[in-house]
Amino acid sequence: MTDAHARPAPIVFVLFGANGDLTARLVFPALYNLSAQELLPESFAVVAVTREEYGEAAMRDHLRESLGKYCKEKCDRTIVDDLVSRVTVAVADARDQKSFEALGAHLADVDAKCGTKGNRIFYLAIPPAGFAPTVRALGAAKLTGRNNGAITRVILEKPFGHDLPSAMKLNAELREVLDEDQIFRIDHYLGKETVQNILMLRFANGLFEPIWKREHIDHVQITVAETVTIGRRGAFYDATGALRDMVPNHLFQLLSLVAMEPPARLDAQSVRSEKARALDAIRIVTPQEALRDSVRAQYVAGRIGDEVVDDYRQEKDVAPNSTTETFAALKLSIDNWRWAGVPFYLRTGKALTRRYTEVAIKFREAPISMFRGIDLDGLRSNYLVLQIAPDEGIRLQFNAKTPGPSLSIARVAMDFRYADFFDTQPATGYETLLYDCMTGDGLLYQRADGVEAGWRAVEPFLEAWRSAGDQGLGLYRAGSAGPAEADALLARDGRRWRTSS
Ligand SMILES: NC(=O)c1ccc[n+]([C@@H]2O[C@H](COP(=O)([O-])OP(=O)(O)OC[C@H]3O[C@@H](n4cnc5c(N)ncnc54)[C@H](OP(=O)(O)O)[C@@H]3O)[C@@H](O)[C@H]2O)c1
Repeated sequence: MTDAHARPAPIVFVLFGANGDLTARLVFPALYNLSAQELLPESFAVVAVTREEYGEAAMRDHLRESLGKYCKEKCDRTIVDDLVSRVTVAVADARDQKSFEALGAHLADVDAKCGTKGNRIFYLAIPPAGFAPTVRALGAAKLTGRNNGAITRVILEKPFGHDLPSAMKLNAELREVLDEDQIFRIDHYLGKETVQNILMLRFANGLFEPIWKREHIDHVQITVAETVTIGRRGAFYDATGALRDMVPNHLFQLLSLVAMEPPARLDAQSVRSEKARALDAIRIVTPQEALRDSVRAQYVAGRIGDEVVDDYRQEKDVAPNSTTETFAALKLSIDNWRWAGVPFYLRTGKALTRRYTEVAIKFREAPISMFRGIDLDGLRSNYLVLQIAPDEGIRLQFNAKTPGPSLSIARVAMDFRYADFFDTQPATGYETLLYDCMTGDGLLYQRADGVEAGWRAVEPFLEAWRSAGDQGLGLYRAGSAGPAEADALLARDGRRWRTSS
């Protein structure tokens, strides 16, 4: 997240999982977009790594095709040709250490030919089971050192662990080989402009920060609603569930940016320290509190638009008696001076009626006694809504007088839409993240303490749900707004979810 638009230092981008889905859909198109914006290093090479022989011509064809398929706008042929010409291939399998020695020789060769000076980014676009073995093999092949000040950084995809112990184990395994400042853990939510804008909104404006606290805020709602079902990802999803898949990473990124204290500086260490501190302040609940303050549910047959959807339990690769949740809602408390007594309600789910992501901050009500005797039906609390997707913007809802001689009140809104103010470049959301890694800026990447604090906060819910089995597992119709239990979670506190608009 740098302000300069300089080209980064020479680098080799070593792409593990080069034949995979993520590479085709997001990583390589992001490299194309960076190249089109002249934000790749002058001396830049890609080494496409697979575990089985692929062949250079076949790999170049495959990557070229993926640009044709996944770039949002028609690609410029010259840029494609240039990018693809920078690709060479290597075979490396962590079960065969010799293949990593050969990768080292190949990289030395690339350095000599391309002037990349021993600077390397290893991007692990592979399933998480491959993270630790690959990093260990890189270390054993002496590819993770920083000889003569050369750059060596490793980008890891999500998910980072599936619970607190596994995340801690993975962090420990990585640190046997790498320093923390060489580790770049991706949460692609942080690549979204609107997510980054939460920092600017709060800290580059004098307007919001004075009221950003318990004295003025009633509660915060964070919603990540998806219309998609689990599709062909049944095996992965049934072992994961909505909470693990979305909450400790994406929803907690939003929560921590909203809840954090102002950092001393806008740099990676200061910002990530404050974010980790906010997550660390989430109250660790007892098993009884976990059951009381959470909702989990599965979708059952319904219709989303024109699509007819089956019961979750009938989806491919899902156990017929599965208790995995496709919807999760939590009520969390943040135990610090700023947020004491301000609940944070989080919800996320699949197969819902509308796809949207937003953070809604509800302000306390005005003392309304002066309006006694006036039609107050229209009087609503003020909301500041940070709209992350699909229409990126910010909405402030407040009350205004309805025109006319009688005194009545209606809710109105001021809307800011990104698209109205800024020309945006075609983007996959990975461009800023990749550029930042090339320039060594880890601000938009997750640090070990933040990841572990996130898992620590959700662990009691995972544990309580595991013990409860199917007891308390709700159902909701595919294409609906979610289970009634989620409404009850807020109704109990005299609140309700903001309906999106
Ligand atoms: N696809 C997405 O949209 C998406 C979005 C967000 C995050 N992610 C994350 O990105 C990573 C890659 O996702 P993907 O969908 O591209 O996965 P994928 O297609 O299943 O796998 C990518 C490649 O990884 C290699 N691979 C498989 N197991 C491996 C292992 N144990 N060690 C080393 N390499 C291995 C395979 O290539 P070879 O067998 O030929 O080496 C495969 O082509 C995952 O961690 C995923 O959670 C994906």
